[in-house]
Amino acid sequence: MSKAPRACVIGWPVEHSRSPAIHGYWLRQYGIDGAYEKEAVRPEDLAAFLSDLPAYDYVGANVTLPYKEAALHAARSADAAAKAIGAANTLWLDANGVLQASNTDAYGFMTNLDEGAPKWRETCGVAMVLGAGGAARAILHGLIEAGVPRILLTNRTVAKAETLAREFGAPVEVMPWETKDSALSACGLLVNATSLGMTGQPPLDIMVGALPSAAVVTDIVYVPLETPLLAAARARGLTAVDGLGMLLHQAVPGFERWFGVRPEVTPALRDHVVAILGAA
Ligand code: ATR
Repeated sequence: MSKAPRACVIGWPVEHSRSPAIHGYWLRQYGIDGAYEKEAVRPEDLAAFLSDLPAYDYVGANVTLPYKEAALHAARSADAAAKAIGAANTLWLDANGVLQASNTDAYGFMTNLDEGAPKWRETCGVAMVLGAGGAARAILHGLIEAGVPRILLTNRTVAKAETLAREFGAPVEVMPWETKDSALSACGLLVNATSLGMTGQPPLDIMVGALPSAAVVTDIVYVPLETPLLAAARARGLTAVDGLGMLLHQAVPGFERWFGVRPEVTPALRDHVVAILGAA
């Protein structure tokens, strides 16, 4: 009889990761005899850990901070998303035991947006993305793949936005952080990919009222679920999409690879994770 498949999330620290709650829920829901663990791996041990995944009895892994770039380089090959984003969050051993990498964050972001604002493509035109960290990279990749013709990218540290614009090329244009409000009237989609608005962080200061009435606003922050940005958007009658769906959807492809079932993101899963976030 073949062994029950095991996967894990690798990070340093890893305690904060919500992935075990998501994958554990699906393992129970689908009655799969498998396991999903947390692995706190020290930086000096990462390379050995990744090259020895089978010895640790894992079929694959999620990778969280600060190892997403290292995971991409450790894999023998990577899909187009991981290469374009420059980081991997999902690893698996193929049929020959060779380590493969993917980045499912763009998939998670786009699937959440499609679900929460099914008509966003019709009204988007110009999009504005705030932030230039790892999340912004994935979001830029997703929006460009979706065919968004013009993306205004703005970040407190402008040099980081300029680096991303160079890497991703047209349609990304950099805007100064201080003047971002002046472009909002032309934007059909506003994405917060900064940590502003997260519990314990300052709120994002932006003139939501300047957006067109058909605009969609989405946030990668999901603690709190209803950020001040999303509350302001909803109060103005705009479509607001919270960030939890991105977290849930990005987990789907990995689970399918490791455990052989494509899992569903259901309201019950969402409630389960919301309860855990509330208890944290
Ligand atoms: P992630 O991988 O989640 O994107 P990150 O790489 O730490 O995380 O990026 C955090 C983003 O939030 C960055 O765009 C950061 O801006 P800087 O590049 O200028 O650091 C942004 N951010 C964090 N705190 C901020 C603040 N107080 N004001 C404006 N932007 C902020």
